[in-house]
Amino acid sequence: MKKSTNPIWGGRFKNSNSELLKKINNSISFDYELAFQDVKLNKVYSEALFRAKVITKNQKDKIIKALNEINQELINEKFKFSDSYEDIHMNIEMALKSKVGEIAGKIHTGKSRNDQVATDLKMWIREKLNEIIKRIKQIQKTIIRKSEENMNVIMPGFTHLQNAQPVLFSHYLMSFFEMINRDKIRSLQLIESLNECPLGSGALAGTNFFEIDRFYIAKQLGFKKPTENSIDSVSDRDYVVEFLTILSLISMHFSKLSEDFIIWASRAFEFIKFPDSLCTGSSIMPQKKNPDAAELIRSKTGRVFSSLSNLLIIQKGLPSGYSKDLQEDKEPTFDAYYSIEIILNVANEMIKSIKINKERMYLEANKGFTTATDLADWMVRKLGLSFRDAHYKTGKIVLLAEKEKKMLHQLTLDSLKKIEPKINKDVYDIILPEKSIFHKKSYGGTSLKTVVEAIKRAKKRI
Ligand code: ARG
Repeated sequence: MKKSTNPIWGGRFKNSNSELLKKINNSISFDYELAFQDVKLNKVYSEALFRAKVITKNQKDKIIKALNEINQELINEKFKFSDSYEDIHMNIEMALKSKVGEIAGKIHTGKSRNDQVATDLKMWIREKLNEIIKRIKQIQKTIIRKSEENMNVIMPGFTHLQNAQPVLFSHYLMSFFEMINRDKIRSLQLIESLNECPLGSGALAGTNFFEIDRFYIAKQLGFKKPTENSIDSVSDRDYVVEFLTILSLISMHFSKLSEDFIIWASRAFEFIKFPDSLCTGSSIMPQKKNPDAAELIRSKTGRVFSSLSNLLIIQKGLPSGYSKDLQEDKEPTFDAYYSIEIILNVANEMIKSIKINKERMYLEANKGFTTATDLADWMVRKLGLSFRDAHYKTGKIVLLAEKEKKMLHQLTLDSLKKIEPKINKDVYDIILPEKSIFHKKSYGGTSLKTVVEAIKRAKKRI
């Protein structure tokens, strides 16, 4: 019989596809990314076909041997992906055919590319989540090391980007330990919840009389059990949205970190210095050294967010079952993951290599009346004022300091007494940044003692 069109599905076609159709339809240029998952899936499926007596032991052995060869070719980057076969599934099946001949045509018995691609992608996402967890742990270790190296460095903590209260730089940096720890936990939870295998759902209705053991397949592919509903299985991409949500949060966290560092590296702040290795120069201004690595982390975050909205938009109007729109889930997903990979690698390097200017940080921590809250609290504690009263009087003291162009601790006792007569010289003990920090001993606060304890706990939480 003459096969004039597509070797996989061409039977009902009289004429071949247009070049234009190939252009819009072919996905091999990006779904080659799923090659290893597809080979693994086909190996397990061949076992299942043998157990279901669809293929003989001899046929199965031949198929598995050929799939192992294909796997090796993929590892050695010798495998030739061909544009003539629209996607990764066809590429693998046709490569198998070139090795074992017509029996390759048996491996698609009872399966569809619809359940196949959903399974491949789920497996891919699980692998990548593990990769992300590994890298997050790496960064958490870097954060701890950097915090310990700069344990006592005092800086102004900000709200509204205005100097707010003194904090330890180590405490600031450890705040990112917490953010990415949540990302790590989310990733672990998602791996845990991606435990149902779609394979064996067929095109949408399940498989016919072949007794394919879906529980066996699920186990072999690292899942706990098969999915419950075949229609849902071929169209479900919730897990992709969940994956991209996690990636969005990760990138959001590192975008914030980058933003802090970019501002702090500016001439106006001079809190930190980036190493030459993470900066670029200007083609016109000879003096420039720009924090491009951090800026690119910030902007790649936009790409990751857009992948998430892309996936939501693709799915919002789809009718039940599989539609080819779902093929468009891959490029944004792969792009988001590889953006995250580079974000994590660069962020790790960035945290490791920035130089901290503790003199500048300390000086700035003194400015902006950062210990005004400590002063108000002192009036509550020592003078018995209500917090509102103390807040108001401290506000007046701040106005006075502003007028006299002084820091709080530079005001004389006499001028303080004019605003609150009960104030005594003990107040000078609490309005220096280091004193303010010393007293922040609440659990999770910025005192040296609590930060040391937090780091001790953090080491156990990695
Ligand atoms: N390349 C397709 C995708 O990524 C595989 C599934 C094709 N299914 C189909 N009914 N044409 O979604």
